[in-house]
Amino acid sequence: MQLYGGWHMKKLLHIIATPRGEESNTLRISEAFLDVFRTKHPDWAVEELNLANEALPSLTIKRVDGKYELLAGKDLHGELKEAWQEIVAHIQRFLSADAYLISTPMWNFSIPYTLKKYIDIIIQPKYLFRYTQTGVEGLVNGRKMAVIASRGGEYISQEARKIDFQEPYLRAIFGFVGITDMTFIVAQPMGMGLEIQEQKIEEAQKLAKKIAEVF
Ligand SMILES: Cc1cc2nc3c(=O)[nH]c(=O)nc-3n(C[C@H](O)[C@H](O)[C@H](O)COP(=O)(O)O)c2cc1C
Repeated sequence: MQLYGGWHMKKLLHIIATPRGEESNTLRISEAFLDVFRTKHPDWAVEELNLANEALPSLTIKRVDGKYELLAGKDLHGELKEAWQEIVAHIQRFLSADAYLISTPMWNFSIPYTLKKYIDIIIQPKYLFRYTQTGVEGLVNGRKMAVIASRGGEYISQEARKIDFQEPYLRAIFGFVGITDMTFIVAQPMGMGLEIQEQKIEEAQKLAKKIAEVF
């Protein structure tokens, strides 16, 4: 949340997981979403987190040790705390948002590794979830997330859905930290000829605009 003339300016964090920039199928749909979103919410800031341009910290042995300390309910000190500075900065940036938009292609039936790496960095005990006597409790409650996805193939039949590890995974991991209000806009198939691709992108853009109206 940004302070703006004494007001809290709300923030939509747009997490981009395709490296294809202007060539991206997914981002054509996200742009349609954002056009409407910006018009509807002139009081919101839209911040872009392009994972292709981020030097995301790797989970080294020290950083993993830090995670286990936190899982054990301890705080970080000394070199572990230092090793965690970059992780904490990413967590704070994530938590500074009031709502999320993820733009992601399907890669190998799942999400691109940059997005998986980002998830492995930010989903941390004490910050995004905690253990209580009754079980796990997500700490990112009450925030909406829209996911715009595109796929070369089509994952609609019962058989094909079995190998879609993109939507179920994103629902599971963000649900785990308390983000349960999730909307998916999926363009598929992108790899069955240009005509179908254009038609499916246009359909997804229409749906994205509709969802952005009420997001
Ligand atoms: C590394 C890589 C892996 C991919 N794996 C799949 C896949 O498992 N299933 C699928 O349907 N499409 C797959 N695709 C195709 C993309 O999902 C599809 O082209 C998508 O529209 C790309 O989105 P973008 O243009 O926003 O990057 C893959 C593409 C790449 C580059």
